[in-house]
Amino acid sequence: MGYKDQIDLLKLPEHVAIIMDGNGRWAKGKGKLRIFGHHNGVLSVRDVVEGAGEIGVKYLTLYTFSAENWNRPSFEVTAIMELLVSTINKEIKKLMQNNVRLNAIGDLNMLPGKCHKELLGAIEKTSANTGLVLTLALSYSSRREIMQAAKNIAAKVERGELKADDINEDVFAQNLYTANMPDPELLIRTSGEYRISNYLLWQIAYAELYFTNKLWPDFRKEDLFEAILDYQKRERRFGKTSEQVN
Ligand code: IPE
Ligand code: IPE
Ligand code: MG
Repeated sequence: MGYKDQIDLLKLPEHVAIIMDGNGRWAKGKGKLRIFGHHNGVLSVRDVVEGAGEIGVKYLTLYTFSAENWNRPSFEVTAIMELLVSTINKEIKKLMQNNVRLNAIGDLNMLPGKCHKELLGAIEKTSANTGLVLTLALSYSSRREIMQAAKNIAAKVERGELKADDINEDVFAQNLYTANMPDPELLIRTSGEYRISNYLLWQIAYAELYFTNKLWPDFRKEDLFEAILDYQKRERRFGKTSEQVN
């Protein structure tokens, strides 16, 4: 029996977040340039999006490019941005067929003009789709997101629209890029690195973390199903005792 058949569809994580890491090392291992790894990483994205849709995951959020990634050599940055544009163009038809709604979080104004425009166009085109919500984290920094939320809230208080005393976790969450999305129950990171790299720090407060040594271009929907199965075997206690949650 494959992993997919063992998944309990009544206990699916609603939101899965993935740190897609290891493209460069994958390419290097094959004696190729890093960008070859990024190109092959797109195949993994396609397969995983399909897999998530097949089992009924509602939100899939992919760490695609971090705010820190701007510090990479400019030829790599340029190549990734070009890849993003060509991928959006190529995949839009499939997103429509599969009823996927595209979304993006991060400092999108930092993206090159063409890239930004294509992205917003695709988001608009898929906006009425009702299936999987596919969110790309682009030029994303969780600390900046949190800081920006604090600024927005402070401005509302200054304008007299909100009382400082009324700021609570819900108000705060509504000022993050992920407002209206449930928190991820499962966070996957590939490539054998055990860190969060400034991703969804607020939102993963109680996420289950899953690490695999597989490099992102080798990751397929079966690996997603395996991670979800692992998640389903865990006991999520949220601070309570095992007896309380059983
Ligand atoms: C992840 O793979 C993709 C991005 C960060 C854009 P990497 O490019 O980080 O690959 P490694 O970690 O160097 O192998
Ligand atoms: C995290 O990967 C960002 C993305 C996957 C887009 P990195 O490769 O940039 O993370 P670090 O630098 O190893 O922490
Ligand atoms: Mg990396």
